Amino acid sequence: MAERIFVAVAWPYANYLLHAGQAAGAYLPADIFARYHRMCGNDVLMVSGSDCHGTPITVAADSEGITPQEVIDRYHPKILEAWERFGISFDLFTTTLTDNHYETTQDLFTRLLEKDLLYTGTQDQLYDPEARRFLPDRYVEGTCPLCGYKEARGDQCDQCGSQLDAIDLIEPRSKVSGATPEVRESEHFMLRLSAFNAQLREWVSAQPHWRRNVSNFTLGILEEGLKDRAITRDINWGVPLPVEGYEDKRIYVWFDAVIGYLSAAKEWARQSGDPEAWRLYWEDENTKAYYFIGKDNIVFHTLIWPAMLLGYGGLNLPHDVPANQYVNFSAGQKQSKSKGTATWLLDLLDAYDADVVRFYLTQIMPETSDSEFREEELIRANNEVLIATWGNLANRVLAMIRRNFDGVVPEPGTLGAESEALLATVREGFERAGAEYATCQFRGALREALAVAQAANKYLDERAPWRAVKEDREHAAETLYTALQAISALTALLHPILPFSTSKLHTTLGHEGTPESAGWMLTGVPAGRSLGEGGALYRKLDVPEPVAT
Ligand code: MF3
Ligand code: ZN
Repeated sequence: MAERIFVAVAWPYANYLLHAGQAAGAYLPADIFARYHRMCGNDVLMVSGSDCHGTPITVAADSEGITPQEVIDRYHPKILEAWERFGISFDLFTTTLTDNHYETTQDLFTRLLEKDLLYTGTQDQLYDPEARRFLPDRYVEGTCPLCGYKEARGDQCDQCGSQLDAIDLIEPRSKVSGATPEVRESEHFMLRLSAFNAQLREWVSAQPHWRRNVSNFTLGILEEGLKDRAITRDINWGVPLPVEGYEDKRIYVWFDAVIGYLSAAKEWARQSGDPEAWRLYWEDENTKAYYFIGKDNIVFHTLIWPAMLLGYGGLNLPHDVPANQYVNFSAGQKQSKSKGTATWLLDLLDAYDADVVRFYLTQIMPETSDSEFREEELIRANNEVLIATWGNLANRVLAMIRRNFDGVVPEPGTLGAESEALLATVREGFERAGAEYATCQFRGALREALAVAQAANKYLDERAPWRAVKEDREHAAETLYTALQAISALTALLHPILPFSTSKLHTTLGHEGTPESAGWMLTGVPAGRSLGEGGALYRKLDVPEPVAT
């Protein structure tokens, strides 16, 4: 029976280029997962968009001397270009600037206010006496009260990853004027998170399939007790409050950004011609929603957004939030010739084919702990694994069929035990890799697929069809036929991770449609079929010389 899957992916701030770490942390895993489920014939909706509000955007605008809108006009198209070139298959990638998003955000705000889950309160805020303005979030920097990092921002410490409140910074300084801020009172709307503590604890405790670090981190916060939070700011860029008298304030960027998941589904539905279609993904309890994010976004997805949804009522909570750890880039930078410039996703894609980048980032995907990006390791992964284990397998077999059988798939006769054993390994590969993909363990899925390729290589080496073809043509025919079936299976097994090269190979094998339409199964390559031309799938890369120091 087909499942319905909602794939929600963190909304990147449209304030700079995408970093390869963001790609490995959220977008690539989400895309692999969506592609796998589409292959299974499941109904997938995958959405996200540019996060366009808040101080991340206004601070970037100030520092570049342009308007917030100009910041977004500069970076949103670059983000779209990255998805296109990296093969991230969104059904919709929108922005938080649409009328639909504003309406959806204000509707949530209004409903929560009516239910007394929002209330106004007076808060101490930092104020810049020179610039005569409040300093929300990133407008102030100072020392992190938790780890002592000197460059912590008002909303977050990049060293220890903690969410902060600007007022708690030690020795704060204004980013606008450099002045030492003073404390002033300001009226804000507060989200009554404290009312959800027990309900959220019960819900989180009933999610045994969550990653251990995600549940533990979330339960830890619930243990301390959730505190109500201000969800408005003294700023003039953002969604206006749907209440009179607060014209100089805006809704806090995180409150509107998470609502993007819902508003994007509505926008997609409208575009698809059935404006009510979003309800299937949000109201049908059989739909499973997966949120792909980095670890710094956990609280917003396991606590705040679920509280907002519970408060609103009638909408699905997340089924899973497979948050990733970080990819570290500093080590690779020191050693690569490119001096580390290739850590922007678009730069990486200028230098390497998308599938090569996807392959390596899947290998180092930080699913359980932080990992390390090294450009020379990417090159090594390309040469020694992607090509040696998989690309050469396909190349060798296709070349032998072209050379010895005029490019026509040979008649195998009755398959012997060795061939049957390889086909059994292939069938098991679908089970094993499928179980990994379905549980968001993409490194494991890649490992399982590569194990099938290794079995096929071993089978070929043992049966040496390049020798057999001269002495025992039938033996060689059986070998090449069987190896070709394994290769066809591998185009499916690897497709979620390597969509570009497997699509090409799918066509070379003479299959109709795409690996996605062919489905999560072995599509047999019948004897007698003429194979297509299709050149090498991957290029061997030169190993850079270490930079002399
Ligand atoms: N823009 C945030 C960031 O880059 C992520 C927002 S995710 C969503 O950290 F929840 F708002 F969608
Ligand atoms: Zn810190």
